[in-house]
Parts: sequence; C-alpha cells; structure tokens
Amino acid sequence: MSYGVESNIDWQTTIDEIAIEIQPLLSQGQVANYIPELSNVKDDAFGLSISLLDGQEFQVGDASTNFSVQSISKVYSLTKAFSLLKDKLWERVGKEPSGNPFNSLIQLEHENGKPRNPFINAGAIVVADCVVSNTPDSVNTIIDYVRQLAGNKKIAIDQAMFQSEKSFGHRNAALAHFMKSYGNIESDVDEVLDFYFGHCSLKMNCQDVAKSFLFLANHGVHPITGKRYLTASQAKRMNALLLTCGTYDAAGDFAFRVGMPGKSGVGGGIAAIIPGLLSVCVWSPGLDKYGNSLAGVKALELFTTKTEISIF
Ligand code: DON
Repeated sequence: MSYGVESNIDWQTTIDEIAIEIQPLLSQGQVANYIPELSNVKDDAFGLSISLLDGQEFQVGDASTNFSVQSISKVYSLTKAFSLLKDKLWERVGKEPSGNPFNSLIQLEHENGKPRNPFINAGAIVVADCVVSNTPDSVNTIIDYVRQLAGNKKIAIDQAMFQSEKSFGHRNAALAHFMKSYGNIESDVDEVLDFYFGHCSLKMNCQDVAKSFLFLANHGVHPITGKRYLTASQAKRMNALLLTCGTYDAAGDFAFRVGMPGKSGVGGGIAAIIPGLLSVCVWSPGLDKYGNSLAGVKALELFTTKTEISIF
C-alpha cells in the first residue's frame, strides 16, 4: 500500500515538533497507582519511536527508557493464541467493543462467562489460558516471542512489578475464578494469572514496542526477519480489534482523533500502526480517565494530523 505523501514527510522534524507541543499536557494526566509499583515512575516522561517498514527508525525524548508495557502485552498473547487456536478462539472470547472499563465484572455474568473482546482484562485472561493450556513453559515462550518481535534479547519481566500485580490483582483473580465457574478457563487459575501478570510486567522501551508491532503493519510478516506471525487475514482481524477495542471504552474517541489501530496500557504506553507503512509507540505515564496516556493520545493525534496519514 502506498499513501503517496510519505516520501515528502520529514519524520524527525514532525516528532520533534510533537514532543514540544505536548509539553503542557505532561502534568495533566494521572499516573496509575492501583498497582503500587506502577506509581514509581517519572510522571513527566515522554518518548516516541517510529519504525517504518523499510527499516528506518526515528525517536524523540525518552524513547529508550524502559516502561511497564501492561496491556500492550495483550497483543502479543492474542497473536500467539490466534496462531495456535485459529478461529476456534472466538468460541471462547467475543469481538465486540465492551463500552465498560477494562476491569469490569458486570458484563461477564450477563454473557455467561464469555468476555466481550480479547483486550478487556477478562478477555485477556481467557487468551492467557489459551496460551498456557497449549504451550509448554508458556511464560518463557512468550518472553522469547516478544524478544524476537522486538529484536531485543534483553527484554525481561520486571519482577517487582510482577509481585505488585500479583499482590494487588484481586479483581483479575475474581474474573479468572468467575470464568472458571463457567468452564471458560481450562488451566489452573494461578498458573493463568501468573502468565497474565508476567507478560503485563514486561519492561520495554518505545523503540522495542514500535518494532514489535511492525508485523501488524505488514500483513502478519515481520519485515526485518521475514518471519510470518499471522496470516494476512488474521492480521486484518487483529487490526480491526485494535481499532474497535484497543483503547477500551475510549476506542471511538481514539479512532476519531487518531485514526490508527492501537493498543494502550496503564503504564502509559500506546502502540499503533498504519498498514503498509509504519508502527509507532508513544509513552507518557500520566493517564486520562479511561486509562489511556493523556499526552500519548494527543501526540498520536498530532502525528496523523501533521503527516496527513491515517487509515482513513
Ligand atoms: O490487569 C491489570 O490491571 C494490568 N496488569 C493491565 C491493565 C492495563 O494495562 C489496562 N490498560 N489500559
């Protein structure tokens, strides 16, 4: 796919401008503290990294500082589960936006333990179960998978974050047990939660995350290694889910303002792609009321506005 205008874009100048324009917003978001370890972060940090399919990369600000990827990891586990279970996966988890907060329990009872989509916590816990139940040594497997996608062998779980998530993850434990009662969790609940908390606690920087999303901009094939992670059809479906469900009950606003399929995490990261062209990761820990990075969403809105490239 060619957008026809990208050859005229000065990517570095564009992101340098964005880094200046978002400065007033850095103090306005709220750093997540419901997992205590998440609040141990410099609250005015801002980084952005772009990876183009042709291998070029551009960075600004704190793009090489590690942060907690949190729910961005749900894209890695979903990719793994989708490639393992194929369309059988959708018998266990839906594909509709939820319109509820990411950790809500309400919908689950009405819908008999089948989560609305794979990106709310309940859905990601079912996806985690699909990986755990079908993969030996699932935690190390997913770490290696992410390292391969990002081309960085040093990516690892932040153990302090993992322990903090585990100690304060009562709502996730409730979701998992509730779904187990409906028969929608196969493996041992503690094993599934360890996998879920573990991959949420991966430490990565903007450069790693942007690179790790490139396969979604390239019909499922990593453009640098040539390895296929999803079929073209599966990559299309993943991107549709990112657009409609990737930023929770703000997905409509994100599509309206940014116009890219993307996934946020409460660590303040957002990864997004433009098919056929690029992936981008922005990080700024102050969140808006939906749990998405406040300055991060604005930075991506400025990015698609200035470059005049979005999926629409
Ligand atoms: O389940 C949790 O609370 C976290 N480990 C992940 C939450 C998250 O990032 C939701 N996203 N915005």
